[in-house]
Amino acid sequence: MSTISIQDRSFGLFLSSEQIHTKIDTLASEISTDYKDKDPVFVVVLNGAFLFASFLISRLKFPCRVSFIRVNSYKGTSSSGEIQKVFGMDEELEGEHVILVDDIVDTGLTMKEVKEEILKLKPASVEIACLVSKPESHKRAIDVRYIGFEIPNRFIVGFGLDYNGYGRNLNDIYVINYP
Ligand code: IMP
Ligand code: MG
Repeated sequence: MSTISIQDRSFGLFLSSEQIHTKIDTLASEISTDYKDKDPVFVVVLNGAFLFASFLISRLKFPCRVSFIRVNSYKGTSSSGEIQKVFGMDEELEGEHVILVDDIVDTGLTMKEVKEEILKLKPASVEIACLVSKPESHKRAIDVRYIGFEIPNRFIVGFGLDYNGYGRNLNDIYVINYP
């Protein structure tokens, strides 16, 4: 299906499931090479990163540890720009190599805040992996080590990303059709 409706909006196909999985394979190979001797801990940002993280991490070539945190900052189609709180942070990250996994880096405020929280726990290193980045929308310089797709500043849905809670289950990614 190339057009879908969610509530009051229509969306067109943007990235196919095949494109997404090919890209995740590439990222998983890079991470497998870079981290094979580092015994990293993956910290996954819920809810949006659940699908990306599960496919990414299941393709790694070594056993690893995974934990989950939760942050809320979006309502409708624009970032609120305010991070409410980071929930569920594992306190045992001292000396660990951490890879933070999120669905999308939009303003970059979420990742900046989460990274600062993690740095307080004195990890050996922290890098960020995201499926999608919107560089035009970044409010601060943010160093994202592993990026699946760089896209223009448009609202997307699917493969973990939602519009008002809907669409996370879609296997492809769709972009909003502005009226
Ligand atoms: P930030 O603006 O970089 O802090 O992004 C905050 C969060 O907003 C991301 O982790 C996503 O969950 C969500 N988000 C950003 N852009 C989109 C989008 O285009 N569609 C759906 N969710 C988005
Ligand atoms: Mg998110």
